[in-house]
Amino acid sequence: MSEAGPDLSASCVDVTFEDGIAWVTLNRPEKRNAMSPTLNREMLEIIEALETDERCKVLILTGAGESFSAGMDLKEYFREVDGLSPAEVRRVRQTAYAWQWRRLMNYPKPTIAMVNGWCFGGAFTPLIACDLSVAANEAVFGLSEINWGIIPGGNVTKAVCDKLRPADAMLYIMTGRNFDGVKAADMGLVNEAVPRAQLRDHTRALAKELMSKNLLVMNAAKIALKQVRTMTWEQAEDYLGAKAGQLRGQDTERGREKGLTQFLDEKSFKPGLGAYRRDE
Ligand code: COA
Repeated sequence: MSEAGPDLSASCVDVTFEDGIAWVTLNRPEKRNAMSPTLNREMLEIIEALETDERCKVLILTGAGESFSAGMDLKEYFREVDGLSPAEVRRVRQTAYAWQWRRLMNYPKPTIAMVNGWCFGGAFTPLIACDLSVAANEAVFGLSEINWGIIPGGNVTKAVCDKLRPADAMLYIMTGRNFDGVKAADMGLVNEAVPRAQLRDHTRALAKELMSKNLLVMNAAKIALKQVRTMTWEQAEDYLGAKAGQLRGQDTERGREKGLTQFLDEKSFKPGLGAYRRDE
């Protein structure tokens, strides 16, 4: 069900809203959703707009047709950009990086990548930048750069390093071999893989599960997880203490206090088994 509000759809991206979910669909199925400079510009504008759009509580990124994305557009992002000035090349590249990881990786709302089909090269960056991911069992992945004579740039190598075991990352970067959604889940590249026929319902259910929690706290928790990875234990302890204090000031729902009251005084819920009642 689409909700009222400005239409954010663009020539290469489709956006629809459904009960708090923003479905953001890379929409160049005839080009297997390859990411062109136009698509990258549109995606940057769209995810910026969704940051403050109340219709979007959870963002799901997916692709139209039989692909998630066939990676960067070899014609429009590589061959045609070869002829531009260094400043223009930089602008095109920075626009891609801006949405594919800079913005997405620290997005202030939960993000889920739903990998419905082909997923190659540059598509690994937004996939890994999303908080969670669900793939179709039948999806086909590949770090195909080696097959056409480049290294996985655009931070694909860095993204893969963050997600895969070193031995798996090395194997797939060196061979460009394909693997399916089941293997992607086994390796921890995606959280889960399900039959394609169940993919949309399964991903929607995951989004709804997230929306049943306190999203302010969830967003602080996910950013904290990403931040502390590169901190020392001492820095992390200090940062997490400060973050928790900041959050108590910001949480108008007063989740912590509700949880304590419902568990300790009313004995009406058990935090180990589910979320506190938010409607009180
Ligand atoms: N860049 C530009 N165009 C692409 C593209 C890409 N990454 N991937 C697919 N396309 C285009 C094709 O050129 C073709 O265009 P055309 O109809 O004008 O000839 C169209 O999309 C359909 O592609 P096609 O190869 O016929 O589809 P397919 O279903 O047989 O195969 C793939 C799908 C994804 C296996 C194949 O298109 C492919 O290998 N793409 C490149 C993947 C890649 O290495 N990406 C890494 C980039 S970093």
